[in-house]
Amino acid sequence: MIKVLFVCLGNICRSPMAKYIFKDLIEKNDLENQIIVDSAATSNEEVGNGIYQHAASKLREKGIKFDNHKARQITAQDYEKYDYILAMEDRNISNILRIVKQDSENKIHRILDYSNSPRDISDPWYTGNFETAYNDISEGAMAFLEYLIAEDKIRKSR
Ligand code: 4NP
Repeated sequence: MIKVLFVCLGNICRSPMAKYIFKDLIEKNDLENQIIVDSAATSNEEVGNGIYQHAASKLREKGIKFDNHKARQITAQDYEKYDYILAMEDRNISNILRIVKQDSENKIHRILDYSNSPRDISDPWYTGNFETAYNDISEGAMAFLEYLIAEDKIRKSR
């Protein structure tokens, strides 16, 4: 089982969007029995809160299912539990490292580092641009899934 943790600053916009977008991709490719997905924050600012309403509306508009998310902060134990810790932007990586202390197993990357144009995903909490966040996250999720398949970490049955 491959375990993936998506991480952003607040865990109410980008990382829950990434979780549900990636889950949707996994379900469409019949890979639910090979991958598990969760999301977390680097800050404790929004802990306990649900997905932000504009992020939820964007997922609804795009036909992506989501359930009752509650924001949580990443812990040092998450580093042991997950195989891939995928950040939205560079700043998340420095903040993750402050909590997990090290990345000896090279698990921490930006989601768009798997794409053809590695870059940060801007925070829609500040930009207000949830369409761009959705498109960037979808691009990263697709690229990451292709990476897992190309590296033989998971196998597509059809
Ligand atoms: P996110 O956006 O990191 O994409 O969930 C944010 C949401 C809330 C805050 C920061 C970023 N905040 O500081 O409250």
